[in-house]
Amino acid sequence: MRSETAPAIRLEDYQPPAYRIDTVHLDVLLDPAATKITATLSIARTQGTEAGAPLVLDGDELTLAGLKLNGEDLPGSAYVAAPDRIEIQSPPAAPFELTIETEINPDANTKLMGLFRSSGTYCTQCEAEGFRRITYFLDRPDVLAVYTTRIEAPKAECPVLLGNGNRLEEGPVEGTDRHYAIWHDPHPKPAYLFALVAGDLAEVPDRFITSSGKDVALNIYVEHGKESLCAWAMDSLKRSMRWDEDVFDREYDLDVFNIVAVSDFNMGAMENKGLNIFNDKYVLADPETATDQDYANIEAVIAHEYFHNWTGNRITCRDWFQLCLKEGLTVFRDQEFSADMRSRPVKRIADVRLLKSHQFPEDAGPLAHPVRPRLYHEINNFYTATVYEKGAEVVRMLKTLLGSETFRAGLDLYFQRHDGEATTIEAFLACFEEAAGTDLGQFALWYDQAGTPVVTVKTRYDSRRQTFSVSLSQEIPPVPGQKSSKPAVIPLRYGLIGPNGEDIDITTAPEGGRVEGDVIVLEKAKQEITFRDISSAPVLSLLRDFSAPVRLDHELQSEDLQFQAAQDSDPFNRWQAVQTLAMQDLVRLASLNREDKPAVPSQDVLRVLGSVLSDTSLDAALKAQALTLPSEADIAQEIGKDVDPDAIHAARKMLRQAVARQHGDILLGLARGLSGEGAYSPDADAAGKRALSNRALYYYAASGSPDAAGLVWDLFTKADNMTDRLAALTLLLHDHMPRETEAIALYKTRHETNSLAMDKWFMVQATAPGDETPAKIRSLMKLPLYEAGNPNRVRALLQSFATGNPTQFARADGTGFELIAESVLEIDKLNPQVASRLLTSFRSWRALDPQRSALAETALLRVSSCEDLSRDSRDIVDRTLQ
Ligand code: TRP
Ligand code: ZN
Repeated sequence: MRSETAPAIRLEDYQPPAYRIDTVHLDVLLDPAATKITATLSIARTQGTEAGAPLVLDGDELTLAGLKLNGEDLPGSAYVAAPDRIEIQSPPAAPFELTIETEINPDANTKLMGLFRSSGTYCTQCEAEGFRRITYFLDRPDVLAVYTTRIEAPKAECPVLLGNGNRLEEGPVEGTDRHYAIWHDPHPKPAYLFALVAGDLAEVPDRFITSSGKDVALNIYVEHGKESLCAWAMDSLKRSMRWDEDVFDREYDLDVFNIVAVSDFNMGAMENKGLNIFNDKYVLADPETATDQDYANIEAVIAHEYFHNWTGNRITCRDWFQLCLKEGLTVFRDQEFSADMRSRPVKRIADVRLLKSHQFPEDAGPLAHPVRPRLYHEINNFYTATVYEKGAEVVRMLKTLLGSETFRAGLDLYFQRHDGEATTIEAFLACFEEAAGTDLGQFALWYDQAGTPVVTVKTRYDSRRQTFSVSLSQEIPPVPGQKSSKPAVIPLRYGLIGPNGEDIDITTAPEGGRVEGDVIVLEKAKQEITFRDISSAPVLSLLRDFSAPVRLDHELQSEDLQFQAAQDSDPFNRWQAVQTLAMQDLVRLASLNREDKPAVPSQDVLRVLGSVLSDTSLDAALKAQALTLPSEADIAQEIGKDVDPDAIHAARKMLRQAVARQHGDILLGLARGLSGEGAYSPDADAAGKRALSNRALYYYAASGSPDAAGLVWDLFTKADNMTDRLAALTLLLHDHMPRETEAIALYKTRHETNSLAMDKWFMVQATAPGDETPAKIRSLMKLPLYEAGNPNRVRALLQSFATGNPTQFARADGTGFELIAESVLEIDKLNPQVASRLLTSFRSWRALDPQRSALAETALLRVSSCEDLSRDSRDIVDRTLQ
């Protein structure tokens, strides 16, 4: 026996709603176990709906307490009510008012969807389908209504009452200990953008004057005592608001913008109109508890949610298949914002690293889906790297193909034409077609085809004719359930590097295909581009700035890659050349290890890493990126089949040790030289220096030098910031250095009361290589500090183990898989979204060696055999095993 798979929802079945809801009045009487909601909806038939057509409202685990039509109780014979729907059989032909009473239990809501409590604070999460857990509704993004919300609660427990839009009224409820507030949001919005918050929170106020002179009150609400941790988030918010005005001419549109930080949250944050709700890890920061990466993440997530005000809220999605319409575009916008705030090349490298480590394996495994899926069983499972990150790459390609000005004109047209609408990818692309005067039919395939295209490159130089030919072909490897794919439009930014290291000026128009400026546009399955008047053999630098989300199969010689690593004018491709050289060697070493043959790292690679280390022209952050070896998971992905994680781990360790031995002096200088100058600042420059010195220490610690352990211990005990302290703690634990146990205890004593800092404590232990780790995790799960209901804690301990500790998760005795399978089953009862996310860590199971993949399959079958699996986990396990 097993739970049924939910019916498939298909894009092709889309029908406009039969009824409209124009206004919503919500009256919310808050109570921990019995909150009463009265929703008054003004409803009208849409054009084309015949009079008396049934009205079906969505619900989810709801109890109906009352139902009135135009103020009169509806007789039981006029409707059917269930926890998941109400059907009113023949509603009036003319517009009518429906009043629905429901009662819900926020304290029992462990799914963290709908109305729940986090550390006593009432808050909501309605995307994608959480509003139907509050009241019955047409819970779909193409039903846009104007909301007025009255919130009532005991004043002592909930002094702060927040809703969407502007506050109209607030005051005591006479004769009681309660008070109320009324919020009104004038902008029509779908239910997924509804929010309310009530609790005893501290307010951190600020203001922002928009470009047209509007004075906007900004507030961040946090637990009392955490006010001082909001400065960076507030600063990031103001910079985001200014940037959207400067770069996209988008101004804010309400008198207030509120942010609330909560500690129990399924995702990063939520863009509810005028009332963003955040996972507190993306708000709270000070040098003592947050790393440089945390600061960068806060800046990016604050920007992301703010930017949704235009791309998501003012213009929303017609249906959930169009999720990338808001997410891909908004990720693109937040990436551009961070690039402008920091170093553009470093940001690009970080984004591509993320894409390759998260999206590429998704696209190559059983959970592959197009940027715009055509079918889903559970929409929560489509908030993926493909929709977000690949979706952003598609927008970036549009900009590359059309040029900045035309891209901007297309986006202007989109804002102008679709403001206030729920729309589609087709409508979005039509704006760019019109602005550019081109047809984007072939480009649209990027939204519809899953799988990462492989672009194969061969070059030939003819010295007699002075021609350089580049033959290109593209192919998408087979994707389960996808018929043969069509050639995509692939913008390949390029340069021909001459022998002196400079890009050759292309004066004669290349032949054989579309070449626009420094972009080759590959449009066919196969194409050959010929460059003329090339007086000596160049090195082709292709896919500069990672201009398309493809894999490049370009058989460059090691000398060419070394030349690129030293000379390429494109910083991204310089970094890529170093990475490619390292990757080739790591794959070679892993395969020798696999066969128990002697393995020695390549001198070429050691030399290239050495020149990066000593290059004085490279900035610190870029150096740190170049010196960060591909992760074990990246190497596994490159190997692709019959993967042995132990052989990969050993290969990486060999290369690290060889770098340490060969470049010990310079590493020591860097490890000591950069950190700890002056007071901590989170800016990109200072963060880059810390990244480089910690990267140098990481290598140096593997040198075997007698002073290494002392250096790491010193950094751990003396660091004045979390970035350095955590880097040292990670080395102590992951290298099993002498005082690791003491370090774990010291860190705990210091940070015990700060849950974000303790998440890092769990994470470092969970990602430690070594046979004891699964047992260690089981004992950590018994600590009172471990809370299975807190998503951040679960992710810190279990998700980080499953995705960041390949040798232990994929242990040859199966106990790593068992630990995660058991945990999924347990967490699934509390919070299906967190469980199903954890379950996706099995997605590359078929690429493992036969023994390990058999063990993974056993663990997956165990999950699958559970009778009452959630829809979320059922969907993932079914597709993973398919
Ligand atoms: N729209 C949110 C974002 O990208 C994502 C999100 C937040 C979400 N919470 C969620 C998605 C819960 C699904 C479920 O910023
Ligand atoms: Zn988003």
